[in-house]
This record gives sequence, structure tokens and C-alpha cells, in this order.
Amino acid sequence: MQVIRDRATLREATTRLRAGGKRLGLVPTMGALHQGHLELVATARQAADAVAVSIFVNPLQFAANEDLARYPRDEAGDLAKLAASGCDLVWMPDVATMYPPGAATLIEVAGPSEGFEGAARPGHFRGVATVCTKLFGQTGADVAVFGEKDWQQLQVVRRVVADLDLPITIIGYPTVREADGLAFSSRNQRLTPDQRALAPMLPAEMRRALTRIAAGAPHEAVLSEAVTALAAAGFVPDYLALVQPDTLLTWTGGPGRLLAAVRLGDVRLLDNMPLG
Ligand code: PAJ
Repeated sequence: MQVIRDRATLREATTRLRAGGKRLGLVPTMGALHQGHLELVATARQAADAVAVSIFVNPLQFAANEDLARYPRDEAGDLAKLAASGCDLVWMPDVATMYPPGAATLIEVAGPSEGFEGAARPGHFRGVATVCTKLFGQTGADVAVFGEKDWQQLQVVRRVVADLDLPITIIGYPTVREADGLAFSSRNQRLTPDQRALAPMLPAEMRRALTRIAAGAPHEAVLSEAVTALAAAGFVPDYLALVQPDTLLTWTGGPGRLLAAVRLGDVRLLDNMPLG
């Protein structure tokens, strides 16, 4: 497994990995790797001949009120996990390599980046879209694997690839959960033991609400009862919304996705699940 920090070496390595028409898979990450990330790597392995993982804590996607410095980092642990997971190349640029002086291009996505995380985190999806487009260009990857855990992000990335005609296939992978149902997230580390014990109530309430909606109960009432139950238990709900899966417009029947963001102390938990 080659660990690369400069553009010239990356170009050599990706040219070699893609020689003879071999397909390169990419898994973009911000590090602090957990089981969810490693399943994306395994999926990329199946979809391509060689796998690159990027680790880059992207300052551009942190809103002004968010603490970039507090983002968990564990370079040694991440590299050990990746070496054991069948990754061929790790791309770990520093900020000046990713955004050299004079960089002046940003990718602004409307549509699926509006509302939800886009509203809660101004500029977040501009940062995600810009860095993902750069990572696709830097690696020349044929496929990239993203988690459904960040459902809105996945729709934004699909939109960018379609709108800019990028020669890459995007694969979405289902959310990987702990045994008690809580979605793996690097943010879970920051929960206190009491908060961690309460956290699985979020996916449990979401599942309960979806079962009732699928059985025909009016969705506005079901969602507002779920919000009340979560708030009574100590969560601070930001949104719980049933949307159309690709556009994230309000659900009007048919396929749906339930999106949730709640705060527990100063930790923001995100989850989402399909209707039906
Ligand atoms: P990060 O939060 O490190 O997540 C990297 C990838 O892992 C994303 O595609 C995310 O959806 C996926 N992921 C995280 N938790 C998961 C889980 N429990 N199950 C399945 N997949 C999971 O998302 C980012 O980084 C950044 O925004 C990035 C795309 C790298 C751009 O900077």
C-alpha cells in the first residue's frame, strides 16, 4: 500500500494502476476510519481492479461556526486499517497541495444541496462538491463509492457528476450500523456514555415512524409525534423529513427517504432510511 502526499507521485501511481484498461476505484474520506468506511473500501475492491482511498479533512466544507480543529484525526490507526483492507493507494494531501495559492474555482450546486444539511451548514455542499470533483480529477478514478449515511451528499455528488459530464460512476453503499442500530460515525466518539446509550432511539423512532407511514398513517402527524418523543427523551431535533429520494423535494407519495438530524449535547447525529 503506497501512501502519497504529492501530485506528481499520485499521477505516476494512478497511471500505473490504470494501465492496460484496469479500473481504479476511489473512496473519499476525511479519516478517523470506522467499519462503515472499511465496507466502502471492500465495495470498491469488488467494483474495480485497484482501490485508492483519500484522507483529507477538507476545510472548505466546514461552515464558519464549525470547529475544523476539533475534527478527529488518527493517521496511524487509519493507515493500519487500510493496509489490512486491501487498499492499494492512500492519497493524503495537505491543505496547500489541495488548494494551492491562487485557487479560485468553486462548484456551487443548487437542487439537492438546498435545505437540510445545506441550510444547517452554509457552504458545506459547495466544499464537498469542489473537493470531490478535484479528487475525481486528481485520481482519474473510474468508480467512486459513497455511503448512503450521508444521503444528501450522495445526491449532490451524483448531480455534479451528471451536470459536469464527469467520466466516473458513483456507487452508493447502505449505512453500516452498530449492533444497537446506531449508524457508525466518527462523531459517535464524542458522545458521553449516557448520550451513547440514548442515541439508538433515533434510528428506532425513525423505523417506527416509517412502519406507520407505510401502513397508511398521515405522515405529518407521525413525524411530529416522533419529534416530540425524541425531544422528550433529551434530543434536540433539527429536522425529520420525508422527501423524494433523488431531488429531496417534499414527498408526494411513491418512493421516499426519511432524513433526520438531531443534536445530543454538542454532537449532531445524522441518519436516513428508505420508506417501504
Ligand atoms: P467522511 O465523513 O469521512 O465519510 C466518508 C464516506 O464514508 C462518505 O461517503 C460517508 O457517507 C461514508 N460513511 C460514513 N459513515 C458511514 C456508515 N455508517 N455507513 C456507510 N458509509 C458511511 O463524507 C465525507 O467524509 C466527506 O464529505 C467527503 C465525501 C470525503 C468529502 O470531503
